[in-house]
Amino acid sequence: MSNVKDILKRFNIDNAARAYGDGHINDTYLIEASSGKYILQKINTAVFNNPYELMRNIERVASFMAEEIKKEGGDPRRETLMLVKTADGENLARTEDGGFYRMYYFVEDTVTYQAAERPEQFYNAAKAFGVFQKRLAEFPADMLSEIIPDFHNTVKRFADFSEAVDKDIMGRAGGVLPEIEFALSRENIKNIITGAIDRGEIPLRVTHNDTKLNNVLFDKKTDEAICVVDLDTVMPGSLLYDFGDGIRYGASSAAEDEKDLTKVFCRLDYFEAFAKGFLEELGGVITEKEISLMPVSGQIIAYELGMRFLGDYLNGDVYFKTHYPAQNLDRARTQFKLVSDMESKMSEMKDIVNRLTKQN
Ligand SMILES: Nc1ncnc2c1ncn2[C@@H]1O[C@H](COP(=O)(O)OP(=O)(O)O)[C@@H](O)[C@H]1O
Ligand SMILES: [Mg+2]
Repeated sequence: MSNVKDILKRFNIDNAARAYGDGHINDTYLIEASSGKYILQKINTAVFNNPYELMRNIERVASFMAEEIKKEGGDPRRETLMLVKTADGENLARTEDGGFYRMYYFVEDTVTYQAAERPEQFYNAAKAFGVFQKRLAEFPADMLSEIIPDFHNTVKRFADFSEAVDKDIMGRAGGVLPEIEFALSRENIKNIITGAIDRGEIPLRVTHNDTKLNNVLFDKKTDEAICVVDLDTVMPGSLLYDFGDGIRYGASSAAEDEKDLTKVFCRLDYFEAFAKGFLEELGGVITEKEISLMPVSGQIIAYELGMRFLGDYLNGDVYFKTHYPAQNLDRARTQFKLVSDMESKMSEMKDIVNRLTKQN
């Protein structure tokens, strides 16, 4: 990292930094100074090309959360990210070489996990994301900028995918006809959530949009999930995106590029754990219509991502980085395997959600 001392001085801190955590998007550093510990992040401007808008979103959401936590008698510095301003009162320090840096208070004595080792851990993560949604329930979601436009616009994702098939610029479509057919034949899935938002059947809410386990800080001693981090993708959206993506990623039995598809399926005990944590926290906030769409939401997000992977494979792997030639095709296949597995488990998932709803 260039001129770190200069950047730290801008935040009134005189000390050294070291790389921290396992994030894949931003560069994250831990700062240990006499005034306390901080997290310094260089924003990945290839992904987030408007850092000012991004920081406006984060500041609004984080300060709203902090007020809610205070009302509950909690500790905002432990239960949410809190920004540290520069000496000039800014949320961002810009360097001469075009870098953008921001700083948060460090949440002490926590750990993160890459994958849940047991359903209880996943249940705890779901509670953290549920609390996040609950605290932001009164926040006017339409005040937030759409940092990545059409992120979960599955209708548009379908149109982009169809275009990639039609153009077939790399001549790869002929080799993946069953996968293309799989996606095209499920067009009816594409507007289940977007249509419900458009018709006003489900509310527009603040959505985290990256509900992975490693974005939750767990207390080192109690193993309770205490803080949701990584607010870069907070946007207006649906709570079903957060639930669905949590399931798609965390309830899957295998890695995103697993080649042996017999190993890829949705683990129902993990589905249940996540649904339980989410519903326990969101009772009184989540609507009946949202609850009714929880079982199908993981399938929709897997379908959407599968189309993005396959579309990128057809386009010549221009968006998702690959480590070997057909990795995006492997990734598409795992997502489509999840879609068909969840299709076959739909009535079980509905039963689980019904049972949990009655308990709450
Ligand atoms: N305020 C914080 N206190 C403690 N740890 C943090 C804090 N913010 C981030 N981390 C750690 O740094 C990691 C990467 O941060 P994150 O914002 O998720 O970056 P990325 O967008 O690259 O995933 C997190 O997974 C977490 O382990
Ligand atoms: Mg992260």
